[in-house]
Amino acid sequence: MSTAAGLRHFLDIDQIDISVLRQIIDRALVMKRECMSVTAKPLVGRTLALIFEKPSTRTRVSFEVGMRRLGGDVVVLSSQEMQLGRGETIADTARVLSRYVNAVMLRTNSATRLHELARHASIPVLNGLTDQSHPCQVMADVMTFEEHRGSIAGRRIAWSGDCNNVTRSWIHAAAQFGFEFRLACPAALGASPSLIQWAQQNGGCLFVTEDPKEAVKDADCIVTDTWVSMNHNDSETRYALLTPYRVDQELMSLARSDAIFMHCLPAHRGDEVTDEVIDGPNSVVWDEAENRMHVQQAILLWCLGL
Ligand code: CP
Ligand code: NVA
Repeated sequence: MSTAAGLRHFLDIDQIDISVLRQIIDRALVMKRECMSVTAKPLVGRTLALIFEKPSTRTRVSFEVGMRRLGGDVVVLSSQEMQLGRGETIADTARVLSRYVNAVMLRTNSATRLHELARHASIPVLNGLTDQSHPCQVMADVMTFEEHRGSIAGRRIAWSGDCNNVTRSWIHAAAQFGFEFRLACPAALGASPSLIQWAQQNGGCLFVTEDPKEAVKDADCIVTDTWVSMNHNDSETRYALLTPYRVDQELMSLARSDAIFMHCLPAHRGDEVTDEVIDGPNSVVWDEAENRMHVQQAILLWCLGL
């Protein structure tokens, strides 16, 4: 989303014009292919603050390394070590950080906190995951699909598992990039009526079912994620509901023979995906993890107007 002040925040895939999203993916693919980021240093003198209110491996490392590859610097902050963790407001934190750094990424439970940060910052704000969405992840996923299989437009992506923050960003991406998203999840853990309505009103080709076999039929890609996200309580009920949605070789065999498998990671092997699938020949999860770095470099360049 761009604010009235002309700030380029990267908060959610549904908030950004498709021409910008397309340009980011294309640029990331070129940067990866040509190793441009290693030689060009467009971010010399710029600093990115990374604030984590919950754990991370990929987001932290990919943003930090990506920023350094472009010549920039980072400050990595855990909210528990900040005055934010002792009650300083998000708004005041936004005002102060805006005087020191050029952009800020936040990983938090609450989308409201992210939007409050963006409202009060005078620098670009990036969404590093909330309990509602994970747009940087799905940008990397779209990039990974296109790297392996060409344009995602008109293709069929199937999700089997919990409908969570990553799923919501996939639904946003389906409407924006024009692909079919087939969501299989238990009714009790399904997409909210408002999200389904949003997809319908915004041209999103969304098919919802409780049957994973129906969802993956003729799919070009099967995606899943953990059954217990960071904002969820681990419960036996959740496991019982989700067990039929495990992505195993039998489910993969119902998709197209060249269907790829994606997972944002961390994976809980044996739960949402079997070792055979995640380590199998159609799995692209390591490229997907690497592409977080490339796509975030392109996102940062766009946010900073470069
Ligand atoms: N996929 C992802 O965001 O991983 P981390 O939680 O390790 O950052
Ligand atoms: N859905 C997961 C994604 C982790 C990257 C979570 O929110 O924990």
